[in-house]
Amino acid sequence: MASAAPAAKPDDFVAQLEAANLHPLWDRFRTITPVRPQAADPPFLWRWRDIEPFTERAVSEVPINDVERRALILVNPAFGGDTVTTSNLIGAFTVLDPGDRARPHRHTFAAIRFATRAAGAATIVNGRRCEMQDGDLILTPPMCWHGHINESDHRIVWFDAANIPLVRTLDANFFEPGDPSSNQFWQVDDGDEKLWAESGLAGADAAPAPAHSPKYRYPGEAARRLLAALPAGTDGARTLRYTNPATGGAVMPALDCYAVRLPSGKPTRPRRVTCNMICLVVSGSGQSSVGEHTFRWTQNDVFSIPHWNFVSHTASGGDADLFIVSDRSAFERLDLFREEYQ
Ligand SMILES: [Fe+2]
Repeated sequence: MASAAPAAKPDDFVAQLEAANLHPLWDRFRTITPVRPQAADPPFLWRWRDIEPFTERAVSEVPINDVERRALILVNPAFGGDTVTTSNLIGAFTVLDPGDRARPHRHTFAAIRFATRAAGAATIVNGRRCEMQDGDLILTPPMCWHGHINESDHRIVWFDAANIPLVRTLDANFFEPGDPSSNQFWQVDDGDEKLWAESGLAGADAAPAPAHSPKYRYPGEAARRLLAALPAGTDGARTLRYTNPATGGAVMPALDCYAVRLPSGKPTRPRRVTCNMICLVVSGSGQSSVGEHTFRWTQNDVFSIPHWNFVSHTASGGDADLFIVSDRSAFERLDLFREEYQ
């Protein structure tokens, strides 16, 4: 009588499953369901004093008509050479000389500009002219035509951010170039932007709101006024969210913007969140502890807060203002947003 075949060893079974294009959950469980998020990137600081010389070179060496955009993207080397600032997000600086036009285009990723030294520039968004003054936030929501022009007599710089890495992960990027020779694109006034310029007022017969804010320009002057009036929040800072006036929610489904005023000398209460943030120092100086890292920063420096790192900010020598761009609204829509305080 033939003896029974020996039972397959567990490892053999796994190998046989793999050969059959099957994975046993019991073997992969810890890999595919970690007990907490673990960002691939450590926090990172990009100093303006290191970036600025490259913006000067970019203007002299890269003709605006030869490129889609003259932007220098902030890259964390932890992403192995991929063009990523922190998960789901990129931050960048764009520089335009007098007369430069960054040609029209549109795309499915969402983007914003924050005017650091951009007075005299304008961004055209879907046929509306959005002037850029210091501290203004300009949205270019998904599939809205947009182009930029510097009509001033001086070089201008602004901070950009976009959710390109997220849209690449989803493989949902579509891109359409506009007509670079069209003069008509630029010959517009503020148009329907007027419909959303008055806080708390909206046309009663306004069309149903799209997924993103119908308002594209958020003046810095208004943000600064509200920051001065706001009470301190749970972490001790005054924080405002830029909102879609038709819904009260985030400005875009997958890109979310905030402004923060930090009180001088008082660390904010450590907090961590599941979403990712890029912080631009708008004014003042200070330091931030992000996870195990501590950065000292000053105006126009940028640092990342990768997800699930405790962060505490401290302004020094006076209040400091931060502009923060985040993927929080995407996390909220997926019911993945969590926060914790220490
Ligand atoms: Fe664009």
